[in-house]
Amino acid sequence: MKYYFAPFEGISWYLYRNLAAKHFEAADVYVTPFIAPNQMRSIRESDKKDILPENNRNLHIIPQLIGNRADEIVDTANQIYEMGYQEINLNFGCPSGTVVAKNKGAGILRDLYFMEKFLYDVFEGLKDHMKISVKTRIGVTDADEWEDILQVFNQFSLSELIIHARVRKDFYKGKPNWDAFSYALENSKNPVCYNGDLFSVADYEKLIQTFPKTQSVMLGRGMLANPALLEEIKGLGKLDKQRMRAFHDEMLAMYKEHLYGEITVLHKMKEIWRYWSLVFDKGDAYFKKIGKSKSLVEYQAVVNALFAECRIRE
Ligand SMILES: Cc1cc2nc3c(=O)[nH]c(=O)nc-3n(C[C@H](O)[C@H](O)[C@H](O)COP(=O)(O)O)c2cc1C
Repeated sequence: MKYYFAPFEGISWYLYRNLAAKHFEAADVYVTPFIAPNQMRSIRESDKKDILPENNRNLHIIPQLIGNRADEIVDTANQIYEMGYQEINLNFGCPSGTVVAKNKGAGILRDLYFMEKFLYDVFEGLKDHMKISVKTRIGVTDADEWEDILQVFNQFSLSELIIHARVRKDFYKGKPNWDAFSYALENSKNPVCYNGDLFSVADYEKLIQTFPKTQSVMLGRGMLANPALLEEIKGLGKLDKQRMRAFHDEMLAMYKEHLYGEITVLHKMKEIWRYWSLVFDKGDAYFKKIGKSKSLVEYQAVVNALFAECRIRE
């Protein structure tokens, strides 16, 4: 089985990826949060920093691009190639209103003629030197769209088709559509990777028992919440409070060192607690308190109380 870690814009940047891989079992592949080519066709400094090989030593990362202009994607991908990467991932899944309105992310799935031409042009520009994978949703408003979408993907030689088995309309809610994944397992000409709602070992096992042909899975919010999820899936270890505390403390110290200003550090820590709070009993109440803290001193006091008073959920 190949294990991917899902991209999380604003969260799973290189500092996070490195630290998680230091404290817990690392994923085989990390797809980066999306990079949007700009009009100058240069990669923003912060995006560049995120994918620089020296910032991702010992991690296998695949830079992700989002856009709807093949020429911009090809230009940016070529700069990524120059940095030493032979593969990019295309984002056909972002559900955000502003992104979709510009026919980017999941918005690209709205017009399959356009999508086909876009993929054709990207392949023409990159096929001799780069592999291309896609991370997609199964439709915009209805899973009935999936057959036609898959037919378009089948015309191209993708290194992988990562399927977040929801339609755009669902954002991150509702149950992933396993029938759509099953259809892809049977009908995709490209290797497929499953993504969606794998929060526990039991979720993972149910997926594998239902679809024994599955060869790769992408862990998302489940592994953000429980950074030891992959270890638990492999039967190598378990999350405990000491390890979570050590991970937290090093992350806080690192963000203090790398980010500018107390508010920025506080904001980043609050963002990750949205997920971490899920693994603690009474985590919800503490997440609210963490959200209200206005300084790092206040934050630290709430976090200390959480670690003293809450247990990791079974
Ligand atoms: C805050 C947030 C940021 C995300 N950023 C990205 C992104 O940059 N690129 C992408 O392909 N998916 C992104 N996703 C989607 C996740 O990678 C993943 O596909 C989704 O959470 C479903 O998997 P899960 O149910 O295992 O979490 C994001 C999701 C969230 C909640």
